[in-house]
Amino acid sequence: MFKIGNIKIESPLFLAPMAGVTDHPFRVICKRFGAGMVYTEFVSADGIIRENEKTLNMIKFSDEERPIGVQIFGDDPEVVSKSAKYIYDNFKPDLIDINYGCPVPKVTKKGAGSAALKDLCIMEDITAAVIDAVPQIPITVKMRVGWDSENIVSTKAGILLEKLGIKAIALHGRTSTQLYKGKANWDYIKELKESVNIPVIGNGDVLNYTDFNNMIEYTKCDAVMIGRGALGNPWIFRNIQDEIFSEDYKVNNLDTVKKTCIEHIKLLIENKAEKVSVGLSKKHLSWYLKGFKNSSIYRKEIMYCENVNDMIKILKNI
Ligand SMILES: Cc1cc2nc3c(=O)[nH]c(=O)nc-3n(C[C@H](O)[C@H](O)[C@H](O)COP(=O)(O)O)c2cc1C
Repeated sequence: MFKIGNIKIESPLFLAPMAGVTDHPFRVICKRFGAGMVYTEFVSADGIIRENEKTLNMIKFSDEERPIGVQIFGDDPEVVSKSAKYIYDNFKPDLIDINYGCPVPKVTKKGAGSAALKDLCIMEDITAAVIDAVPQIPITVKMRVGWDSENIVSTKAGILLEKLGIKAIALHGRTSTQLYKGKANWDYIKELKESVNIPVIGNGDVLNYTDFNNMIEYTKCDAVMIGRGALGNPWIFRNIQDEIFSEDYKVNNLDTVKKTCIEHIKLLIENKAEKVSVGLSKKHLSWYLKGFKNSSIYRKEIMYCENVNDMIKILKNI
């Protein structure tokens, strides 16, 4: 157990923020399978202060998800800090996380996301403004190691962020230009951990207990954040935890997968419009069913479904 600011973190297994994936239903499922901390998808600071309905819906969460972080991105210190205050006043999450890692051009060309890694002055201004606007809860950062391999800044940025009052840093061991290619370089996570006193959350390429253990042993990071390893595999948190405590849970049987799929679909339908739920169910089911016998046949059938009841029927017949 460790703390981020004054928040007790019971498990060192964090669900990474993922746009289009870590919505309320998926977060609830990961939480039920033991995720120690979950985050919203990144939300636009501009959208928040304009009170865009779709953006605000992305922030809604239930108490079951706590501790939860709302992740924001933006390029203007005033807008980002106003959005952080709006989030605190209206939603009261456990923490607010600033995204300095997104490599998507639509985000970086305006100076947001990982573009801040090219200009630590901007990073400093945004961070200081957010901390000043929301002194009540911890402000954290998630970032990549640098813009490109010639410009690695994670340790320098980490020291600066700690001085400004950031309470934890999640570091994805890739550069922005690397996108998801190659391997995450855990050396930078290790270096950051040796250089700051706040918790460091290691991120990148953890797919199972062995990876988790290797990352903790090698970098000495305080927690591990898992993204792609949780797609269609939310029990990864429980499975890793059980290896840590030598218990024997191991979810990988078809019955649990089917039960989780149906639970996920029901959560989607309770929380979103039918059309959106159908689209998201197709995406998640194709991840969940990967690797099972005849899965390509079922996945194809599911792709043709026009409503969730038909999907549930297919699942029940597998
Ligand atoms: C579909 C998808 C969406 C993502 N969206 C976000 C996001 O909104 N905010 C963020 O900080 N990182 C985002 N990421 C990056 C992940 O949080 C994580 O840093 C990255 O996937 C590396 O971790 P992994 O190897 O465990 O997947 C996203 C990644 C994926 C695959």
